[in-house]
Amino acid sequence: MCGIVGYIGDKDVVDVLIDGLSALEYRGYDSAGISVVEDDKITTIKAEGRLDNLKNMIYSRDKINSQIGIGHTRWATHGEPSDVNSHPHVTARLTLVHNGIIENYQEIKKILVEKGYKFASQTDTEVAANLIDSLYENDPIAAIKKASEIIEGSYAFAIIFNDILNKVYATRSGSPLIVALGDNEHFLASDVPAILKYTRNYILLEEGDIVELEKDKITLYDKNLKIMKPQIHEATWTLEQAEKSGYEHFMLKEIYEQPKALLDTVESRIIEGLPSFERDNIDDDFFTGFNRIEIIACGTAMHAGMIGKWLYESVCRINVECSIASEFRYKNPILSKDTLAIFVSQSGETADTLAALRLAKSAGVKTLAIVNVNGSSIAREADYVIYTYAGPEISVASTKAYSVQMAVMYLLVFKTALVRKLIDSKKASEFVGQLLSAIDSVNDALLLSDEIKEYVNNFLDSSSIFFLGRGLDYYQSLEGALKLKEISYIHCEAYAGGELKHGTISLITKDIHVVALTTQEHLASKMISNIKEVVTRGAKVLIFTKKGYEVDDSAYKQCIYLPKLDDMFMPIVTVVALQLLAYHTSVAKGCDVDKPRNLAKSVTVE
Ligand code: M6R
Repeated sequence: MCGIVGYIGDKDVVDVLIDGLSALEYRGYDSAGISVVEDDKITTIKAEGRLDNLKNMIYSRDKINSQIGIGHTRWATHGEPSDVNSHPHVTARLTLVHNGIIENYQEIKKILVEKGYKFASQTDTEVAANLIDSLYENDPIAAIKKASEIIEGSYAFAIIFNDILNKVYATRSGSPLIVALGDNEHFLASDVPAILKYTRNYILLEEGDIVELEKDKITLYDKNLKIMKPQIHEATWTLEQAEKSGYEHFMLKEIYEQPKALLDTVESRIIEGLPSFERDNIDDDFFTGFNRIEIIACGTAMHAGMIGKWLYESVCRINVECSIASEFRYKNPILSKDTLAIFVSQSGETADTLAALRLAKSAGVKTLAIVNVNGSSIAREADYVIYTYAGPEISVASTKAYSVQMAVMYLLVFKTALVRKLIDSKKASEFVGQLLSAIDSVNDALLLSDEIKEYVNNFLDSSSIFFLGRGLDYYQSLEGALKLKEISYIHCEAYAGGELKHGTISLITKDIHVVALTTQEHLASKMISNIKEVVTRGAKVLIFTKKGYEVDDSAYKQCIYLPKLDDMFMPIVTVVALQLLAYHTSVAKGCDVDKPRNLAKSVTVE
């Protein structure tokens, strides 16, 4: 949600800021803006809508000669997308960009209004900017620190003060921010891809840190204003990974990257044919230290959690709850000492998942994070972390991150079963072999792309599509429906095959589209009955089943055959077909595949 960038050095700041904002546009695209230091004053340019609008505005005016600036790409929270609500926000004494939400902005605004401050926008950010302005007595660090004691909520700020035009200030609490180090230059960014074109070295700001950036110097203060020695990290991602590399969309590239992402994630955790989490500093004792599991996540990551729940319950017979993070944190969850809480997140910054993690930690529960972004808040705060190696996922619709999250779930379950002697080494190694074969079969699932592309022409006028499945296929239906609706804007709903006739079947009329998954052999005959129920009512059914399974052709408009795997491993290939279904529908409908309306990649507000 919102991306911020900053730069101070010798380069043309406009180019650097625009490059950074392009890399961060997935975080929000309601408006964009920059402020640069030019001729001893700050010039601000902002535009509603996509970054291209801002670029047109900048490049159609006289060239800006500046080497210091800050920039922002917005996902609107307070105040509609508009020029006036766009960042940067300018006060009498400073210019500021913000990522996060100031929860008590109304109270602060009231006090500031009484002091004579005037507000042009409806944003919480303008309030924060004026708060810092009101506290400023020629000491930026003191003003930022005082403001942090008043502000409730989450923020990453980058600020330039009118009377100190050769420095950029920044701070964070609850929203991510990194400082990157180049040659006689420093960068600020919400996420690593924004700096990869220029440098690989960066510092992760901790909660409450304040940083003063000069061209050739960083002064880092912790939340108690103690000067700290920055710890420098090296990015593991490359610029090529964060680029489209010839694909029309990031989503398509990321779908095709799945075989590699899966292998990278899994192979590094197989030792002598058996699952091992040694490289994650998780030893065997860990796997005997819990009797129930809570899996907590949002959206697609939560769907990966559901696969984990199914696997844990069926292989290890351990009781697992899988919760939406925003529900979990407010339901007074039952967290006993024998609970393991697993948090799943691509970004590692999702506000609700992070808050749920903090809640679980405060209850004294052991926490494990499955995260894709190195050094992200969830990864840093959990007791244990298992990184997925999907590389940067830029498309808002999550694809490869989901697959690798599932793969980690398989390995965790096999490892738990092995340590608890529920299976022997032979069986564990057989399971691992099946997982590797499933990953190999993803290449075959990708070959279905053309067949799926042709079918989606049937969807173009659909107002509603229903997804049906049972068991693991039900969880995949949820993910398939989410993917299709988020990028094609067609209403999609997923139902457990047996559940439809408890209400929703009244919506099935002639020509309504249904996507039915029948990859689970032990449930196939039940699914076929459910499919017949909708066909009888005029639905047009697309079935995904596995090779070798014969489906009576009166039950479908089209049947697409997935690679044949044991039922338990079918989700690895099924989801690829569902991702392609969503992708091709979105393209055929002319939607903005990678940046669907109203969404942002990293949901850092609750
Ligand atoms: O970064 P996270 O995995 O925590 O994000 C959670 C959800 O916001 C995310 O999975 C979302 O549902 C996907 N973009 C949907 O494709």
